Amino acid sequence: MVKVLFVCLGNICRSPVAEGVFNDLIQKHNLADKISCDSAGTKGWHAGQLPDHRAIKNALDNGIALTHKGREIQAADLDAFNHIVVMDESNFKDVYEMYYRLKHSTPSTEKLFLLRDYDPKVTGVKEVPDPYYGSELDFEEVFHIIQRSCKALMNSLIEKYKLVEETI
Ligand code: 4NP
Repeated sequence: MVKVLFVCLGNICRSPVAEGVFNDLIQKHNLADKISCDSAGTKGWHAGQLPDHRAIKNALDNGIALTHKGREIQAADLDAFNHIVVMDESNFKDVYEMYYRLKHSTPSTEKLFLLRDYDPKVTGVKEVPDPYYGSELDFEEVFHIIQRSCKALMNSLIEKYKLVEETI
């Protein structure tokens, strides 16, 4: 099983959207027996909570229902997931430092990377901006950044792990 963990700061705006979008792609590609995903925050402030109501509404408007309950990333996640996919440089630094502190080594670029490394439209900063203090429009923009990046990430994982039988 290929396991992907999406990580942001609070686990109520960006990473649960990525989890919902990626789960939808898993279903559409018929890959539920080969790939799974989850999400977590670098902070546990919103542990046990549903995503932010603006994230829930925006995702639903785009056809994705969010049911994740917030949780803080934990030591076991570093081994349990093949790929830890973060939203911004601050998340990257936090997870990188956590990894180094717990495992006395640095995570590979395959293990820990930014979601927007896969954004085909990215220019400049490769971050998914935090919409928490933003508007509905910010949530909409973030959704589409996450959606196109998740599609590209999915295609890359299908290729990497040969998850789809080749048809002749
Ligand atoms: P997220 O957004 O990291 O995308 O879930 C945030 C959620 C909550 C807070 C900050 C960012 N907060 O300060 O509580």
